[in-house]
Amino acid sequence: MYFGALASTAASPILSAEKVSKSYGVTQVLQGVDMSVRTGESVAILGQSGSGKTTLLSLLAGLEHPDAGTVRFDGQGLRGFGIDELARLRGRNMGVIFQEYHLVPSLTARENVCLPLEILGEKKPGARADALLERVGLAPRAQHYPHQLSGGEQQRVAIARALVAKPRLLFADEPTGNLDEATAAEVEGLIFSLIAEEGLTAVIVTHNRELAARCARILTLHLGRFG
Ligand SMILES: Nc1ncnc2c1ncn2[C@@H]1O[C@H](COP(=O)(O)OP(=O)(O)O)[C@@H](O)[C@H]1O
Ligand SMILES: [Mg+2]
Repeated sequence: MYFGALASTAASPILSAEKVSKSYGVTQVLQGVDMSVRTGESVAILGQSGSGKTTLLSLLAGLEHPDAGTVRFDGQGLRGFGIDELARLRGRNMGVIFQEYHLVPSLTARENVCLPLEILGEKKPGARADALLERVGLAPRAQHYPHQLSGGEQQRVAIARALVAKPRLLFADEPTGNLDEATAAEVEGLIFSLIAEEGLTAVIVTHNRELAARCARILTLHLGRFG
């Protein structure tokens, strides 16, 4: 499949959800969510705990499929891709930051950051990985393992890993939710600086109103949809 054919323009969204629904057993989490995100825009998704924010993010990032409705990247429905094609599309275009960092414990910081490029088949991921570790202030800790790093440091590694393949879209799921207030503010600042520097489109799930206020648009999830 040719991913460049429908390159988004100012007029077309890079990402959209149309009437997206998702249940887990009898729990109906999302009920007809509609949203779209334009290239270069940053959008915050707010909502109470359990309102379905993480579920929606995993659908938007193609980690799961909805029960009904369509998620499109660059106009192309994610359901139309095979497993490998979708993995490649995601690897090239989407970076994800999780609340719990999700670093690989047996790999050093540098190896964690190199990993997405290695999966994409790049032979020499080191230079880009080192540049990003430097940018997030962790070059001196490159050879350390996750358990040797603080929460804020682990999240900086995760940010570098999310950006190493030069994605167009950044997803972040409560990226500062596990950090103390001062560290959260630093990591937030770093995320927004990198969004600007790397020219990213961003979808940030949060219940931190300060973080949300730094986004161009705020959507609030309530009773399974935006309203
Ligand atoms: N894999 C799953 N299996 C069963 N229930 C789930 C699963 N993931 C989420 N849920 C349920 O879906 C609802 C929304 O969860 P989630 O999307 O994590 O909300 P939020 O991120 O807004 O806190 C909750 O009731 C949660 O218990
Ligand atoms: Mg969540």
